Amino acid sequence: MPKHPLITLVQNKLLLSSLAEKYGTPLYIYDKEQLVHNIQRLNSILKKYFKSFHICYAVKANNNPHLLKTLKKAVPTLGADCSSPGEIHIAGQNGFEGNDCIYTGNYESPEDLKCALDFGAHINLDDIQSFHRLQKIGLPNSISFRLNPGFGKGAFAQITTGGEDSKFGVPHYDIVHAYELAKNAGVRQFGIQCMTGSGVLDSNYFPNLMIEMLKTVKKLKDQLNIDMNFISMGGGFGIPYTEDDFPLNFDEVFAGVAKNFHAYFNQRQEKFPALWIEPGKSVVGDSAILLTRVTGKKESYKSYIGMDAGMETLMRPALYGAYHRIYKVGSADAPKNTSVDITGRICENTDRLATNRDFPHVEEGDLLAVMDVGAYGFSMSHQFCTRPRSAEILLDGETASVIRKRETIQDIFRQCYD
Ligand SMILES: Cc1ncc(COP(=O)(O)O)c(C=O)c1O
Repeated sequence: MPKHPLITLVQNKLLLSSLAEKYGTPLYIYDKEQLVHNIQRLNSILKKYFKSFHICYAVKANNNPHLLKTLKKAVPTLGADCSSPGEIHIAGQNGFEGNDCIYTGNYESPEDLKCALDFGAHINLDDIQSFHRLQKIGLPNSISFRLNPGFGKGAFAQITTGGEDSKFGVPHYDIVHAYELAKNAGVRQFGIQCMTGSGVLDSNYFPNLMIEMLKTVKKLKDQLNIDMNFISMGGGFGIPYTEDDFPLNFDEVFAGVAKNFHAYFNQRQEKFPALWIEPGKSVVGDSAILLTRVTGKKESYKSYIGMDAGMETLMRPALYGAYHRIYKVGSADAPKNTSVDITGRICENTDRLATNRDFPHVEEGDLLAVMDVGAYGFSMSHQFCTRPRSAEILLDGETASVIRKRETIQDIFRQCYD
């Protein structure tokens, strides 16, 4: 199995102990080199297969402004995929121009739509009703709709965003009508978007999704004479979370997508749109660890290891039953001789970061590293049980800088008083 890219960091007990001492735990630690590697790798693979392409980093995966700046510096053409006024705000503050960004909301309020319109983002509508709401505010030059092709694929049912059970997108049988409305209302430039799930590790899925999208592109051309300026496949590119997962072969993914894409437009001798993607997890996911300290051990009907990080620090295990590798700092290879549940300090029985996990012997005070927490880690963290959110630091080699201070109890209550 390929080694985890941050395993050397996990083995560096001296460094991690000193960071825990200085900044406290739980602590999100990002590795700049890995982050830059991830975004530049995607950019160069796309460059290999597409004349015209655009990457919009999905800000919902991680909105830290210092990480946004780092990504933008690494790939200056980078855009942002935003899903709320807050994400538009932070993208705009960190050098992302509206025209380089896509806004995909769902059930957007008029205020949400106005914010996206004012920012000048490409507005990607989730529904025909969204178009009617937008029309009352103003019409952008360019519009796309999110297609729900009637199927989807995701690592969990909860993050499968296409299909008949999904709240997202325009069903394939309504999509021509949606574009017809927009065209008749005076919209002149079009794109199309389709994002059917997150955490996909099957490299064949994306080329097949492109074939499905092209069926709709064909209908729109044949029935409405609409040419697409861009086709966005959304995000969804998975990363290995378990010891048994193999990383997605991006070369294979985009060679396959490009083959279907080019075959279609070459055959029809039509204008080539740009290929857009909106990756989140595959950009930031494996670039961070969560450093946490063992606060208690308990032998009950099961064996428990309690830590100062719980479901409030990292929601994914409680929310989806997601698996994250957890290592004892400095002893990633230690023999795993007991089966334990690894939990936090929250008053909920769903508060587990791991269940029935074979794990090495640990003592109170030991440091553990939870892997692959860069995406949907801090961004989903919260203050349940009045636990302040953790700090975030960025490592450049072994040099750390604080990119988000630890919240205080006073911060939690700041809005309760005048
Ligand atoms: C519209 C849209 N684009 C992109 C993404 C990013 O997905 P991922 O982090 O799986 O790459 C999401 C995630 O939910 C999304 O809803």
